[in-house]
Amino acid sequence: MPRSYARVQIWLHWIIAALVGLEYATSELVEEGGAFLAGLHVWPGVAILVLMPVRLVLRLVLGAPEPPESEHPFLRKVAVWTHWAFYVLLVIIPAGGLAAMYGGWKGGQLLHDAGEPVFFVLFWLHAGAALVHHFIFRTDVLTRMVPLLARR
Ligand code: HEM
Ligand code: HEM
Repeated sequence: MPRSYARVQIWLHWIIAALVGLEYATSELVEEGGAFLAGLHVWPGVAILVLMPVRLVLRLVLGAPEPPESEHPFLRKVAVWTHWAFYVLLVIIPAGGLAAMYGGWKGGQLLHDAGEPVFFVLFWLHAGAALVHHFIFRTDVLTRMVPLLARR
């Protein structure tokens, strides 16, 4: 079991997080604007769809650090399931959007629209948990994903 995430995993984590942020910032444009504005929602989605499998392979090959000793077994399970759910959702949501828009498959939009709120809830759980770990539990969970914080 590695003691921290590999640099490439950390880069991918934050690049994909930024791309997801772009998806939320541009989600209104996709229906209102023309091809260019719609593209602002489509292309980050394509990038996420390409990067997630790369990240999944790295995750399977390189692994992830153990949760802190002090973590309650139930919370460990929540964290692990949340992480795997992100891998699944960040393939289903963009793939569904693309299948609907360019493949004419209506079910794809249903997947996109059903997956997004699930992702949204898990995202706040995830980001909230990271901050609780840092400021309340005082573990190294946040700093191993934000090495800059650790060097201070
Ligand atoms: C991880 C990637 C993505 C996220 C987080 C995301 C998120 C969202 C959100 C929050 C909305 C507005 C709320 C809603 O109507 O459901 C939306 C709308 C939309 N998105 Fe995405 N999206 C992603 C990828 C894509 C991709 C790749 C496409 C198409 C190629 C796409 C097509 C659409 C369309 C057509 C709408 C407006 C219609 C509708 O939602 O029913 N999305 N997206
Ligand atoms: C779209 C946004 C995000 C996604 C999709 C996401 C996804 C993930 C995934 C899948 C992991 C598991 C490690 C891996 O397989 O690479 C992870 C770990 C982590 N994320 Fe995020 N994340 C997001 C945003 C955030 C934010 C905003 C924070 C901080 C507030 C954060 C903090 C962390 C931390 C600290 C870990 C390490 C957890 C551990 O070591 O057990 N993430 N993230």
